[in-house]
Amino acid sequence: MKQKTFLSWAFCSRLMYGTFFVFTAIMSTVGQAVKTNSTSDVITSINRERIKLNEGWRFMRYGAEPDKLLYDIRPPIQEANDSKVADSKPTEAIKLEAGDGVLKKWILPTANDFIKNPSQKHIRPAGEPGADFSFVKENFADNTWEQITLPHDWAIKGPFYDGDKPEVGGGMGRLPSHGVAWYRKKITIPATDQGKIIYLGIDGAMSYAMVWLNGHLVGGWPYGYNSFRLNLTPYVNVGGVNQIAIRVDNPNHSARWYPGGGIYRNVWLTKVSPVHVAQWGTFITTPNVSVTEATIHVSVQIQNKAKTDQTVDVKTEIYVLTDIATRTQKPVGIFPAEKITIKAGESGVNERQLILKNPKRWGPYPSQKPNLYIARTQLLKNGKLIDEYDTQFGIRKIEFNPIKGLLVNGQSVRIQGVNQHHDLWALGAAFNIRAAERQLELLRELGCNAIRMAHNPPAPELLDLTDRMGFLVIDEIFDSWERKKTPHDFHLIFPDWHEPDTRAFIRRDRNHPSIMAWSFGNEVGEQYTDTAGAAIAQKLHDIVHEEDPTRPASASENYAKPDMPFSKVMDFMSLNYQGEGIRDAPAYAHLKGIRTSPLYPAFQKAFPDKMIVSSETASALSTRGSYLFPVSTDNSAPVGNSTGGNPETKEVSAYELYTAAFGASADKVFASQDRHPYVAGEFVWTGWDYLGEPTPYYTARSSYSGIIDLAGFKKDRFYLYQSRWRPELPIAHIVPHWNWPNRVGEITPVHVFTSGDEAELFLNGQSLGRKKKNEFEYRLRWDDVNYQPGELKVVAYKKGGKWAEEIVRTTDKAAKLLASVDHTKIKADGEDLAFITVKITDKNGRMIPDANNRVSFRLQGPGEIVATDNGDPANLVSFASHERQAYHGMVLVIIRAKKGTGGRLSLTAKADGLAPTQLEVYSESLCLTCTRKFL
Ligand code: GAL
Repeated sequence: MKQKTFLSWAFCSRLMYGTFFVFTAIMSTVGQAVKTNSTSDVITSINRERIKLNEGWRFMRYGAEPDKLLYDIRPPIQEANDSKVADSKPTEAIKLEAGDGVLKKWILPTANDFIKNPSQKHIRPAGEPGADFSFVKENFADNTWEQITLPHDWAIKGPFYDGDKPEVGGGMGRLPSHGVAWYRKKITIPATDQGKIIYLGIDGAMSYAMVWLNGHLVGGWPYGYNSFRLNLTPYVNVGGVNQIAIRVDNPNHSARWYPGGGIYRNVWLTKVSPVHVAQWGTFITTPNVSVTEATIHVSVQIQNKAKTDQTVDVKTEIYVLTDIATRTQKPVGIFPAEKITIKAGESGVNERQLILKNPKRWGPYPSQKPNLYIARTQLLKNGKLIDEYDTQFGIRKIEFNPIKGLLVNGQSVRIQGVNQHHDLWALGAAFNIRAAERQLELLRELGCNAIRMAHNPPAPELLDLTDRMGFLVIDEIFDSWERKKTPHDFHLIFPDWHEPDTRAFIRRDRNHPSIMAWSFGNEVGEQYTDTAGAAIAQKLHDIVHEEDPTRPASASENYAKPDMPFSKVMDFMSLNYQGEGIRDAPAYAHLKGIRTSPLYPAFQKAFPDKMIVSSETASALSTRGSYLFPVSTDNSAPVGNSTGGNPETKEVSAYELYTAAFGASADKVFASQDRHPYVAGEFVWTGWDYLGEPTPYYTARSSYSGIIDLAGFKKDRFYLYQSRWRPELPIAHIVPHWNWPNRVGEITPVHVFTSGDEAELFLNGQSLGRKKKNEFEYRLRWDDVNYQPGELKVVAYKKGGKWAEEIVRTTDKAAKLLASVDHTKIKADGEDLAFITVKITDKNGRMIPDANNRVSFRLQGPGEIVATDNGDPANLVSFASHERQAYHGMVLVIIRAKKGTGGRLSLTAKADGLAPTQLEVYSESLCLTCTRKFL
């Protein structure tokens, strides 16, 4: 579908109940099993049951030679270049034809619901692959296998691969995420479930998941980032025990970052009547939205899995979701019951529209409020309820305007965004709501209002959080298409899976109000292949619009130019680095690679009707608290061994001037954005550091590009962005610290990040001068300060008046540990977490900025230490360790309460020669105050 992209794109959101803890309560109060019947043709009056299936799994990962149950064969690894520059050109894929003996043909039919052309749907071949293999059998003794709870990432505890020729390289985080593993669980399906349809839903399994039930291969899904579900019904033993066995096979060299390993998101068992709302079967849009009214369009797809045609009544009621725990008693809009007849084995769609007066609109924080609604859809057979399905959505109007940028509900919203990978640092890829919430809380504090999901679909719960917290989202699906970036990435399955993966991705996510646009690719190799590449882009673009005609779609470009056919396909221009220019500043002149001058004007000229946003900017690098000398006089420079970087310690200077070879400093990007005000904003690469891709030191484990480090500690860059993104906040931040015993009398530059426009710096009471920001300057620099210990103070001014002040002092020697926690009460649900920061301080409680003491932790009470970290990308101590060196004065401990009644959790931190510290956290089974509110 061709779109005029600066017309409005308005939409709403859906969320299946149960994915959001609050709805479980609502769900359990409705409908009970009234009657069951043994023939699947008689529709019973039962309600949908959605059960989290995360507990009680057994797990085994092969050490060496695994089973031969392959999805498909893979090309041998010929080039395993670990530290390839991120913007290097993707290459043509090697094509291999598998003969028989692989299981692909049995897996492909799982995609059928997401393939449009009936002639391209897959037919399951005869045979029961794997049926003889012991792991799929009920009587196999798995009691020696590890007992685990999902979400689970088998690789995160390590150990890290060290050295020059690691089995898994720095790109993938040096952790053992590769290999084949099995998960097994027994479930009892009671006799009362006779006649129901039973689905297994997996929100994410890394990767090539294949599922057996009672020895039968049911199906699977290769792409590890998508959610999928399987119909277990034909193989279920109703009234008895059922054996689930899941095989995952995660290839090495399959990613440019850490993928994690295993079933790393939630797993669900859903039981429904044979006539039910289809998987992701509602789609709610709001074609017209104003202050006084909104048009709400509801489309409900209903599946008839009975053997005869069925007629049911469909009705939907709209409720205000006043906050996350309650909803108003009365519906604000009603679609009364309407009959629909659906043929046996098919599905039908019921579409309706109503006008809602005075809608509470969804909008991004902080300028607007993220109001939400729920649409409750019911199916009734002869007056009896047979299915009930909740869809969370929002009402808002989005416009992509080529001159004004992004407009939400008519208001201009500058995109102050960041890119985020899916890992949750020391917790790995295993999804955890509280960890994701912490990530967003810090980003919100930064002034960030938008996230690009780099480069694949996130956990569904993360989108629930962005809806609730009012972040805008670009939801992205692929990092590669036909051409490869790494030998075993998505290109291997692109021919069979690009359509089903794209359709599944959109259908799952399209009701989330936070999603403003779709991205169907990141820096793909097809940018380089002229019309052939553009044709693939067009195909994916059109699939996206068939599934969601309401939002714009694009693929990010770091190479395609305005006159290339690839660019013409896009609804809006999603530029990586090209906007501000790649390697175009003097400090980058000696480097090879893509080189462009700032391209915003050229794109604007070529596409005057398309909005431009920078989907990746900066790639500025640093390690928290490391200041390296000499300091560049440029404002943006690549990290070099003699400037900005220390290859020995694998640190990058925190003066925040240094970048990846193709990158730009934050300041350089700000200037470029200000010079081109029609650009809608930026997504910084990245908000947080992430596991893998440790540019520039590939012997490290995690990235250097975050504004926040891997432990969640703020780098100095945090204050540079905060000064720009929250100009109303009085900020004056001094770089560096002031503990330099070996630099007495030496030039030690001082930089100040402030939301003011002027500042005066004082060293031990003596003014070092008052400086003013010039146009396109975003920091104040005193580059000739002679270091003397003592007190460095800055006083910032805004429009002539005093605005903010900061003092940094040379500390005394290390004396004690100080601990603080994000929340002193957590839920005793086996999931909630407390994040405890321990600092090494002097006797006055001032953090010692270069302290690296080894700290050990002990937890008493009903809980456990899940992980520790210090934010140092080069630290290869297992995240599971209860002992860790501080990095620049700080260390993090993550604790979790056991599921149960709760109690007092007491953490003790000790380090040789320092006074220990103790901190208490309380866990409660019914912790009402633990539900944090964001409105
Ligand atoms: C970009 C790429 C990102 C990441 C980044 C590294 O080119 O899209 O995924 O690799 O560079 O700084």
